[in-house]
Amino acid sequence: MFEHLEPVVQDTILGLMAAFRADPDPHKVDLGVGVYRDERGETPVLPAVRLAEGALLAQQSTKTYVGPAGNAGFNQAMERLVLGAAHPALASGRVRTVQTPGGCGALRLGAELIRVAAPDATVHVSAPTWANHVPLLAGAGVKLATYPYFDTASGGVQFAAMLAALERLPPRAVVLLHASCHNPTGADLSPQEWREVLAVLKRRQLMPFIDMAYQGLGEGLEGDAFALRLLCAELPEVLCAVSCSKNFGLYRERTGALHVLSESPAAAEAAFSQLVRIARGIWSMPPDHGAAIVHGILADETLRLQWVGEVDAMRRRIEGLRRELLQQLREHCPQRDFGFITRQRGMFSYFGISTAQVHALRERHHVYMTDDSRMNIAGLRRENLGYFVRAVAQVLEAAR
Ligand code: LMR
Repeated sequence: MFEHLEPVVQDTILGLMAAFRADPDPHKVDLGVGVYRDERGETPVLPAVRLAEGALLAQQSTKTYVGPAGNAGFNQAMERLVLGAAHPALASGRVRTVQTPGGCGALRLGAELIRVAAPDATVHVSAPTWANHVPLLAGAGVKLATYPYFDTASGGVQFAAMLAALERLPPRAVVLLHASCHNPTGADLSPQEWREVLAVLKRRQLMPFIDMAYQGLGEGLEGDAFALRLLCAELPEVLCAVSCSKNFGLYRERTGALHVLSESPAAAEAAFSQLVRIARGIWSMPPDHGAAIVHGILADETLRLQWVGEVDAMRRRIEGLRRELLQQLREHCPQRDFGFITRQRGMFSYFGISTAQVHALRERHHVYMTDDSRMNIAGLRRENLGYFVRAVAQVLEAAR
């Protein structure tokens, strides 16, 4: 039966990873896939992760199944990390959590729950959104639509247009929101703008589905959770897909969680039972290793504080790179305003150059970013930042 299958084009981010790996040029610069890199260009195992992993390997006495909801200690620790230990939604018993294979697993599981609860529901995603949101959500059978988000002129958010679009949605529509460090643009809402979004969600009875994949890498662990905590404090129902890939550096361990906030403890229990059933029918039980490490870190105050410092160091490095990049771009490309780079947050910036210029950067200078000019700022370092800026200057000059 497989002889009729046509080869398909790879996901843009995965395709770019493969092209970068195959490029033998020693000056190549990878600003493609969203993984954190240090000053040596490596994606290190965090020291807190190494310590927790060592303790885990020494103590682990069995490899038996963890169950479809995953590690209960991890789930509880994630609720506290994401919502804050004193959050009223936790006190009211309305939150349930299922451990998932990465943030992707959480997004898919959330979409599956939406389809079971409301088969006709549409999930509205920002324009643009992370490329993989579309297959992850649509693969569950929910309908997708977009709302305006990025403002190419300012490098910020078209807030009035976004709000007006949300105002027009029918009750029970689902709105996918990026908690912080918007992927792919880096353009986030301010606390005041989040309050205005909350007012519309309430008035229109919309349900937020929050994707939090970068907690700690934008404004810090607390600041990045502001919107999620606000919405969960004020709304009857919220879905939150959370990833430990970036802030714990656990990418390949596929560690994430789906938190569901329901109107009452009984409704939360019913939603949880549905989630467990759905998970059982897809991956049965999540992989244990990453979640056990995260639990080991969050349950040990010394390790937790060490990890908090490590996340903060990643965040500060990205902020420093943004400042340095802007300064060098101002020197080498004075004809263009790149001020948005220090206003955007997290690993990504939409660089605002054309696809042809992105291709020229790749072909002539071996600089890799996605065709829409999303760049992973963390792929820069002292050693290649000047090279990158000179390459940009040449490409912009050639287009004049
Ligand atoms: C990205 O946006 O580059 C990361 O989230 C990695 C991925 O899976 O796409």
